[in-house]
Order: sequence, then C-alpha cells, then structure tokens
Amino acid sequence: MGATPDILVGMLMGSESDWETMSKAHKLLKEFGITHECRVLSAHRTPTEVVEFIQSLESRGAQVFIAGAGLAAALPGVVAAHTTKPVLGVPMAAGPLQGQDALYSIVQMPPGIPVGTLGIGASGATNAALLAVAILALGRPELAQALTEYREKRAKQVLDTVLPMGD
Ligand code: RP5
Repeated sequence: MGATPDILVGMLMGSESDWETMSKAHKLLKEFGITHECRVLSAHRTPTEVVEFIQSLESRGAQVFIAGAGLAAALPGVVAAHTTKPVLGVPMAAGPLQGQDALYSIVQMPPGIPVGTLGIGASGATNAALLAVAILALGRPELAQALTEYREKRAKQVLDTVLPMGD
C-alpha cells in the first residue's frame, strides 16, 4: 500500500481574474472535504511552471485535475498533455466572445488527449468539482454517500419551493 495522498485534486487557472468563477469549485471541494490545491498558472505565460506544478501534485497523490481558462484557453489541454489522470476543463466567460472561444478551444481536443469539458462559467466550475467528487467516489464509499446526500438536499430544495403566486 502506498502512502495516503495529501492532495487529491489539483486546480489551475490561467489568471487571477478566473478566481471568482473557479472559487465555486474550490468551495464545493471544501464542502466535500476533498484535499486540493489551487494555483494561477498560464499555458502561454508560465508554461514551464504549469508542468512543474502538475508533476509536483502527481507526486503528492493528485487523482484529478481541474483547469479553468478563458480566451484561447490552452491550459486544460496542456494539463492533459502532461498527465494521464482525468482532466476537467472549465471555459471562462471572458473577453469579447464571453467564453465561446474558450469552450470551443477546450472541447475540441485532438483524439488521444481528452479533456472533460464543462459549461461556460460558474455552473461549469460547480459541475467540474462535482464530477471530480464523483470520480473520487468510485473508490470511496463515504464520498459516494456524501454525493447522494448532496443530491437529496438539492431535490428537497426543489420540492419545498413555494411560488409567490399572490392572490
Ligand atoms: C486567460 O485569459 C485567462 O484564463 C483569463 O480567463 C483570460 C484573461 O486573463 P487576464 O487578462 O485577466 O489575465 O489566459
């Protein structure tokens, strides 16, 4: 048996301006008690440090990577090029095209180097974290249970909704 990993998820984003969106993923991972580390690193501006960060996290046990980027959005693909662990990509709603460019860039990976691409912006970041939890839950029954409870709570919120119908 190997040592217990101290980090399960590695999260990267291309700019500090991505944090408001990516913090949704951070908060959810925290809620599920998933050890993770988040860093601003750019595929274009700090390419060497991106690779070093991935290698360092892998050596500490990281099982899943989440990468958020806007504009040309090469980051998730570059992460996927340097690890065989699952990589989840989140397009940022940035720039003149508000994330449509990033979505196409992240989703259109060449065959052989997959990136699981989420929706643009905050909902994509939330779902990236939930997918990371689901991947980790495959081998962790307590996490699978926590995911079931999360879903049940959300379902209850919907069912308890009372519409302000007025008179
Ligand atoms: C990308 O360019 C980042 O991921 C960010 O979404 C976008 C804009 O970056 P900044 O100009 O805010 O640093 O690399």
